[in-house]
This record gives sequence, structure tokens and C-alpha cells, in this order.
Amino acid sequence: MTTFKNKVVWITGASSGIGEALALALAQEGARLVLTGRREEELERVKVLTGLPTTDVLVLPLDVTQFEMALPATDKVIRHFQQIDYMIHNAGVSQRSYVRDTDLEVYRRLMDVDFFSTVALTKAILPGMIQQRSGHIVVISSVAGKIGTLMRSGYNAAKHALHGFYDSLRAESYYDNIQVTIVCPGYIKTDISVNALNEKGQKHGKRDENQEKGITAGECAQRILDAVKKEKKEVYIGGFTEVAAVYLKRFWPSLLYKMVRKAAPQ
Ligand SMILES: NC(=O)c1ccc[n+]([C@@H]2O[C@H](COP(=O)([O-])OP(=O)(O)OC[C@H]3O[C@@H](n4cnc5c(N)ncnc54)[C@H](OP(=O)(O)O)[C@@H]3O)[C@@H](O)[C@H]2O)c1
Repeated sequence: MTTFKNKVVWITGASSGIGEALALALAQEGARLVLTGRREEELERVKVLTGLPTTDVLVLPLDVTQFEMALPATDKVIRHFQQIDYMIHNAGVSQRSYVRDTDLEVYRRLMDVDFFSTVALTKAILPGMIQQRSGHIVVISSVAGKIGTLMRSGYNAAKHALHGFYDSLRAESYYDNIQVTIVCPGYIKTDISVNALNEKGQKHGKRDENQEKGITAGECAQRILDAVKKEKKEVYIGGFTEVAAVYLKRFWPSLLYKMVRKAAPQ
């Protein structure tokens, strides 16, 4: 089975939540890390928590929606570590607003952070992976990438888009020995709802009950790494309800649509 020992893993959204938990779990396995997010001080905090030798962690502050920075950022990583073995596209922002109320700009923002940023970074790192004839791209989608739910229209759309793009990339990259794993978490106990955008693009600002009752970011990270080691194509990680919903959509979609319609908006 694959091991992360000495592998170079670039994680976006490493300053909190699932990204931070992934950084800590990967450090335990001896990986070398690139930590990206906008908040440099939080990335430095995570770097200290990893306990890794300082040269084994590159703190690389970046707003992933500055697409023109994808190439210079990639160059920095290559200068530091000479290669990139794993890219984990984890940075993301959710939504809490109805379609009828939501400004178009909010949809653009959600697509930029949750979808286009991954495309820009993937295009920047892909030539290096093709040249080294190895690489593994891990995309943190969501159960929201499989099911459309209330007050998440833009978030759902961006996460669904990831599946189309990365299923294509997986097929195209087969003979270059590049793997693609798409991860669909359910409810995970992080600040995702606090940072979610409302109809005007402001922060929702509170922890929703569903996230509060979710599994921990640490457990989610462990299960993500297990799936990556097994080179899974797609994986669902969460409580019974969210994972069952994915199968319900596949096998009994009319019931799922009714349940979504009747769910308490949150
Ligand atoms: N928690 C859940 O229930 C859940 C469920 C399904 C999927 N997910 C997905 O899991 C991923 C991680 O979310 P989380 O739950 O850990 O929430 P979180 O704690 O809010 O983390 C979001 C991360 O994304 C980064 N980020 C946001 N906008 C960015 C930007 N423009 N440039 C660079 N980094 C940016 C944030 O860093 P900075 O603020 O420092 O930029 C932060 O590290 C997301 O893709 C989310 O959609 C979460």
C-alpha cells in the first residue's frame, strides 16, 4: 500500500478544519508539506503543530482565487521540494441563501473558490506530474457534489462541477500514471458554516446544528488518507444519513427529492 513517507503533499485550505487535520495526519506519516490558505499566521500555527523539521513544511500563503498566482506558487514549491507528489484541493467556502435572493456576484465567488481555483492550480502542477510520470490529485468535493439541497445552489453547482472536471482528468491522465480521488464529506465539525456566504456575500457567522453533530475533522482526515492510499476514485465520508442520501439519489431519486424539499432549511 502507498505510504506518505517523504512524499510532498500540497494542501490548500490548510489553515483550519479538514485541511489542518490532514496536515497533522500527514505529518504523523512523515510527509513533507506545503500549507496554503490566506491567513499566514494560522498556517504558521499549523506548521508548528505538525512538529516536522522546519524545512519539511513550506508555508505558502495564497488567495486561491488569484488565478494568475497559480504558476508562480507552483514554481516556489518546485524550487523548495523539487517535486509535488500529492495535491489536495481542499480550500472551499459554502453558502446559506436562496436562489431568489442571491446576488450573481456571490455565485461567481463560490465558483471561483470552489471550482476554478482548483482548475488553475491543477493546470499549473499537471506538466510536472506528467513529466515525473506520477502524481495524485485529491479533490475535496462534498455530498453536496452529488445532491442539490436547500440554500446551497451555488455551492452545490461548484461541487458538482468538480466531478465532471476531475472524472475527465482521471480518464485523460491514466497513461501518465496520475491518480484522481474525489472525496465527498458529509457533515464535519468545522467552521464551514461560520464562513459560508449569505445572499450578499457576507459570512453566515454561526455553527449550524448539522456540523455540530458531524464527525470530527481528525476522523475525516484519517478516512481521506485511507481512501487515497487505496487509490479510490470516489469516496463518501460522514454519518449514515448523508452517505445514505447519495445511494438514495441513485436508487430512489423521487424519495430523495421529496426528503430534500421537506428538510428544515439550515
Ligand atoms: N465541514 C463540512 O461539513 C464539509 C462537508 C463537505 C465538504 N466540505 C469541504 O471541505 C473543505 C474544507 O472545509 P472545512 O470544513 O475545513 O471548512 P473551513 O474550516 O472553513 O476551512 C476552509 C479552508 O479554506 C480556505 N479558503 C477559503 N477561501 C480561500 C481562498 N480564497 N484562498 C485560499 N484558501 C481559502 C480557508 O483558509 P483561509 O481562511 O486562511 O484562506 C480554510 O483553511 C471545503 O472544500 C468544504 O467545501 C466540508
